[in-house]
Amino acid sequence: MTGEGSYKANTYNLELEGEIQRLKAQVLISWEKEARNLKWFGLADGMNVLEAGSGPGFFTEKLLELLPNSSITAVEIDPVLHEKAVEYLHEKAGDRVNYVQASVADTGLPANSFDFAIARLLFVHLPEPVAAAREIFRILKPRGKLVIIDSDADLFWLTNPPLSVEIVREKFKQVMASRGGNLSIGRNLCRILKQAGFGSIDLEAVVSHSDIIGIEAFEPLLDSGPILQLVKQGLISESEIASYLVSRDEFVAKGDRLMMSFWLMACGEKNQ
Ligand SMILES: C[S@@+](CC[C@H](N)C(=O)[O-])C[C@H]1O[C@@H](n2cnc3c(N)ncnc32)[C@H](O)[C@@H]1O
Repeated sequence: MTGEGSYKANTYNLELEGEIQRLKAQVLISWEKEARNLKWFGLADGMNVLEAGSGPGFFTEKLLELLPNSSITAVEIDPVLHEKAVEYLHEKAGDRVNYVQASVADTGLPANSFDFAIARLLFVHLPEPVAAAREIFRILKPRGKLVIIDSDADLFWLTNPPLSVEIVREKFKQVMASRGGNLSIGRNLCRILKQAGFGSIDLEAVVSHSDIIGIEAFEPLLDSGPILQLVKQGLISESEIASYLVSRDEFVAKGDRLMMSFWLMACGEKNQ
C-alpha cells in the first residue's frame, strides 16, 4: 500500500487520551445493533475472527464478550494503539487475542485462516481500500465473510437543533483526501468488496438515536479536539470553525435536543 492513510491517533485529536475516549464512545453508541447485524451476516461463537484496524481494543472487548469460544486476531498498524490494546485486554482476553502489529494491506498472516473478518472505521482512512480488501480476501477461508463498518460524510449525524457543519465537513473531506482517506467511503463499500473478489454482497444501516440511548451517549462525539487539531495544524482557520462552535454551544444548551448517527455495514463472502 502506498501512503500511510488519514488516521494517526496521536495527531487526529488534541490529546491522545481524548481520542481514545472518543473511540470508546463510538463503540458504545451502536455496539448492540452492530452485534445484531454481525450475527445476521453469519458471525457465530467459536469462529476464528480477524479484526482489522482494532485500535485501543474497545471493539475487540465487545467481540470477546459476544464470542466466548472464539479467538480474535487484532491487526493494528499504530504501535501506540497496539500497546494500549495489549494493556487494556490483558486480563480479560487471556490467550484469546492474537495481536498483530501490521498493515491490513500486508498482514503476513497465512492464507485461508479466518471464518469472519471485521474492519470498523478503518476503510475510511485507507489510500488503497481495494488492496486491503484483497488481502483480507486472501486470509479468509472459503465461504468466509468480511464486514466493513463505516459511515459517509453525507449521512453521519442528524441533530435538532441543527449543527452548522458544512464548512467543517468540507475541510475534513479535503484534509482526509490529501492524506489518502475518503470521508465519503460509505457509498463505495459495495463496489470495494466486489472489486476485491467478494460475492453475495449485502448492505445494512445502523441508526442510533438519543431518544433511545440517551443524549449523554453522543456527547463525547461532539469533542471539538479533532477540529481544533486542524486549526493547530493550520488546515482550517478559526473563522471557518466559528459558526460550527456557536451552533454546537446552542445545541448543548438546548433542553430537548436530539441526535442520530448512521453507520453502514457492508458484507461480502469469499465464494470460492
Ligand atoms: C478510527 S480508528 C477505529 C478503531 C476501532 N476499529 C474502532 O472501531 O474503535 C481506525 C484504526 O485503524 C488503524 N489503521 C489505520 N490504517 C491502518 C492500516 N493500514 N492497517 C491496520 N490498521 C490501520 C488506526 O491506527 C486506528 O487504530
